[in-house]
Amino acid sequence: MAKRAKSTRARAVGAKPARARTIGTAASRARTSQIEPAAPAASELATLLDYVRYAVSRFNAAELAFAHGTTDPVAEAVFVVCESLHLRPDQFDGFAVARVTTAEGSAILALIEARIRTRKPAAYLLNKIYMLGLPFYVDERVIVPRSFIGELLQSHFGGDDGGLVDDPGAVGRVLDLCTGSGCLAILAARQFPNARVDAVDVSRDALEVAARNLADYRLQDTVALYHGDLYAALPRDARYDLIVTNPPYVDAEGMANLPPECRHEPVLAFDGGADGLDVVRRILAGASRHLVEGGGLVCEIGRGRAALEDAFPDLPFLWLDTEESEGEVFWLPAEALAG
Ligand SMILES: C[S@@+](CC[C@H](N)C(=O)[O-])C[C@H]1O[C@@H](n2cnc3c(N)ncnc32)[C@H](O)[C@@H]1O
Repeated sequence: MAKRAKSTRARAVGAKPARARTIGTAASRARTSQIEPAAPAASELATLLDYVRYAVSRFNAAELAFAHGTTDPVAEAVFVVCESLHLRPDQFDGFAVARVTTAEGSAILALIEARIRTRKPAAYLLNKIYMLGLPFYVDERVIVPRSFIGELLQSHFGGDDGGLVDDPGAVGRVLDLCTGSGCLAILAARQFPNARVDAVDVSRDALEVAARNLADYRLQDTVALYHGDLYAALPRDARYDLIVTNPPYVDAEGMANLPPECRHEPVLAFDGGADGLDVVRRILAGASRHLVEGGGLVCEIGRGRAALEDAFPDLPFLWLDTEESEGEVFWLPAEALAG
């Protein structure tokens, strides 16, 4: 049995889109704007902490959704303020009482206003997101990475007792299906130092972003990108020790209720059909042909656990939990998929 994830640092990425807080009604927004004070001059705020406090107040009043790298207004404000000053968010404590110049302050205020006016995830406004403390380039060609699989690669695939691999160094081939920005392929390449990783996406736009991230991490020779529909993009004889995938899995109801922030992200990254399982079914159907004996599949499905277990009552899903998720990612060994 796999153990539960260890208590490590807080997840760098946010909750699933369908669970993000809903946005206020038009009436509540109108009410909010009536009582909103005029925008401050940069000179009214002095320190990083002042700007963070101001941003939190504005974000709260605007009832933003936080699901893209941060899960609350304080973390979002720290991210926005620090990144606009070319500091990492984890450097905030050391600079909290440092003064901000007038020009820097104006840039921060413009960013805060853009976040509220456009409802774009801050990650798109800054072209950056951190996952497990590692920076990735993002823009609107890809979903903002927030897969629980990143944390699970560390907690369950590090070779610890009770984990799902005995020796990360012995993992030779990994497939990342539905790679998007390439974040999971990159995290897998770092987790399994001797592995070659193949990464597939049907979106050429997404693959351009993934290529940029691979170059940033100098992993072009370790991770190969493939364009196409799931396994059809790969050589027929390709076999893997591990398949990781965070496919589109939002059901029709979830799609209808996506918060405004998620509507800036590619629909292709979310839409899993009526019950959310359209792509997951095809991943399950093809997995055994591409896994070696002793290999396995790790797949995120969001809120689809009940539907999945109803659809595949005979499959022995092992649910892997993280700091912030329960029953959203499953593991299946190759033998179970071979039926
Ligand atoms: C939820 S996103 C995951 C991206 C990335 N792995 C992550 O965790 O941030 C799903 C990705 O699947 C891709 N996709 C959707 N349908 C696909 C298909 N049939 N074959 C390959 N990729 C697909 C989308 O373009 C999108 O990049």
